[in-house]
Amino acid sequence: MSTKLSEISFQTDLVSEEKKNFFETYKRSSLIPTRGEGVYLFDDQGKPYLDLVAGLGVNALGHAHPGIIKAVTDQMNRFSHLSNAFINIPQVLLTEKILQATPGMTRVFFSNSGAESVEGALKLVRRWARKNGRSDIYAFSKGFHGRTLGALSLTYKDKYREGYDPFMPEVKHLQFDSIKDLSQINENTAAVVLEFVLGEGGIRPISCEFADELDRLHRKYKFLLVADEIQSGIGRTGQFFAYQWYTLKPDIVVSAKPIGGGLPLGVILGSEEINSLWHVGDHGTTFGGNPVACAAGQVVMNWLFEQNGLEHVKQTGKILSEALKHLQELFPKKIKSVRTFGLMAAIELFEDSSPYPAKALEEGMIINSTDSTVIRLLPPLIITEAQIQEMTEKFKRIF
Ligand SMILES: Cc1ncc(COP(=O)(O)O)c(C=O)c1O
Repeated sequence: MSTKLSEISFQTDLVSEEKKNFFETYKRSSLIPTRGEGVYLFDDQGKPYLDLVAGLGVNALGHAHPGIIKAVTDQMNRFSHLSNAFINIPQVLLTEKILQATPGMTRVFFSNSGAESVEGALKLVRRWARKNGRSDIYAFSKGFHGRTLGALSLTYKDKYREGYDPFMPEVKHLQFDSIKDLSQINENTAAVVLEFVLGEGGIRPISCEFADELDRLHRKYKFLLVADEIQSGIGRTGQFFAYQWYTLKPDIVVSAKPIGGGLPLGVILGSEEINSLWHVGDHGTTFGGNPVACAAGQVVMNWLFEQNGLEHVKQTGKILSEALKHLQELFPKKIKSVRTFGLMAAIELFEDSSPYPAKALEEGMIINSTDSTVIRLLPPLIITEAQIQEMTEKFKRIF
């Protein structure tokens, strides 16, 4: 295959090479993007696509953000990688901002991805459980925590787990948002791992009643509460972390996706008690906390906290919510319900949602289908009112 972009025959060469050379783990979109700018991706013909998925919730500041390009280029000109045997200045500066935004958390460990952060959190939980004579770890139905074996022990859907057992024997699943199921928690509980808003599971936040009961049990039995904020964190819901909308306080927080502004970066946050579980050599990673990714992360944090980003998410989140409710009124036979939490949104259909991403592409829009009947939207956090209006017009044509 030729290597110059201008010489590639897009639909024949690239599609057939992909089919021939890759493990078939992904169902690829028919759109082959060649560049991005802000909230849009472009194909080789220059056609723009309104990107309402943002690389599955990663591109918080959209594509080719000038601030991120500058930070990344400046850092590349210094060095692109340092082992964690060295103090890494972008890591230290980013950590300062993350801890400022997360009262109660005092320590950070950087990884490369969501699943790697979950694995680290599970290691902390096991250490703590051994020390405190506890065993059970609870996760929830519809929960998604990643694809590595530890994370997959927590992930619920059979579709993702089939053929990979045995999983961690101490993990059990409870019904998501069921107060009744929480009664299984007791003095033997080591940890509860929770998405405060289900992402893959269709944008469903826990109810306040569920949060209050979990808070009561957390205080009573003193197990570790682990918040999986990999999709819902870093401003997506209008708070830095989604759990900050509730009163209960996690002991460990894991996050990833947008924190590196499009570069691979994950994070584990913990309190001083959690810090006492790890000493030199107990955990590590070669690439985690890469200085280029951390330099980009600082731009995301600046946008959220110094350029009023969180407020922007709250305001555009309301506009998105109104727009989706309006669509539901227009198409009551198609749309069963709409759910939003900041700039996480679900349009639940009466029918299979899987054909909709292809229909949206024809209209110049990128959307995602999840949980069989749900259209999921995770737009860049910089999306504007005008772009939400553009989305509404495109959905009207699609429905
Ligand atoms: C809530 C949640 N946890 C964990 C993960 C896994 O993250 P990664 O794909 O970076 O390993 C995801 C990914 O979608 C997620 O949404």
